[in-house]
Amino acid sequence: MEIQKELGKEIIVKNLDFWYNGKQILYDVNAEIGQKKITALIGPSGCGKSTFLRCINRMNDIISIAKAKGEIHYCQQNILCQETDVVELRKKIGMVFQKPNPFPMSIFDNVAYGLRLQGVKDKKQLGKIVEESLKKADLWDEVKDRLNVSAFRLSGGQQQRLCIARAMAINPDVILLDEPCSALDPIATAKIESLLVKLKREKTIIIVTHNMQQAKRISDDAIYLLNGKIIEAGKTRQLFENPKNKLTEDYINGVFG
Ligand SMILES: Nc1ncnc2c1ncn2[C@@H]1O[C@H](COP(=O)(O)OP(=O)(O)OP(=O)(O)O)[C@@H](O)[C@H]1O
Ligand SMILES: [Mg+2]
Repeated sequence: MEIQKELGKEIIVKNLDFWYNGKQILYDVNAEIGQKKITALIGPSGCGKSTFLRCINRMNDIISIAKAKGEIHYCQQNILCQETDVVELRKKIGMVFQKPNPFPMSIFDNVAYGLRLQGVKDKKQLGKIVEESLKKADLWDEVKDRLNVSAFRLSGGQQQRLCIARAMAINPDVILLDEPCSALDPIATAKIESLLVKLKREKTIIIVTHNMQQAKRISDDAIYLLNGKIIEAGKTRQLFENPKNKLTEDYINGVFG
């Protein structure tokens, strides 16, 4: 961990190849994810963004036909190794999905869910962490008087912030977000964006987005993926204002994708 962190890198991906059912999806992906930075993962539909993201917390393990080869270094460990405790890994590398997916339970219980799984029973402690997490997700003021109502009573944007609060409650180092705003209106989107910028003070964030303006607004670094290969990666500003590769330029200018 120390060497990586000294270099300011939270995650280093080396020669990552990936297959579904023998069909190759990712080709020799190499990437360095900056600690406490927002990294945007961009590229046309089907290029492998979600697949790549899911490799980082071994979420693809639940797909039996999936196979990954290569290295993903996190905390001085290649997390693709068989010995990796994936439950522990997912506590450290949390995930938020495209469609808000609150559990069918109260707002409070949604946020407390992971803590209870970890065996936290003390009501006072649970209440404290739930409050802190909802505050971190900028949702507390909107829900503090109705923590016991069903999470389904919240708006889509509020549900997505609840999912972020649920992820935050376990205190991860890294949060992976797969198009978290694509089901949200511009106001709800703006709230999530400002929240992510605030969260990066303490977390490393990787976000998949189809919204180039969003990538430009909030990310420090960007990775452009096309047909499972990294075409270009670097500082967001550089990549958008002065892309090195013609393919990147075409994509960010909306020529295709
Ligand atoms: N569970 C699966 N089984 C088989 N093939 C899959 C599976 N999930 C994704 N794929 C295929 O892998 C490729 C990459 O998919 P992926 O979902 O990673 O793309 P993406 O860049 O996230 O696309 P989008 O922007 O549409 O979300 C696609 O060709 C897709 O059809
Ligand atoms: Mg996807």
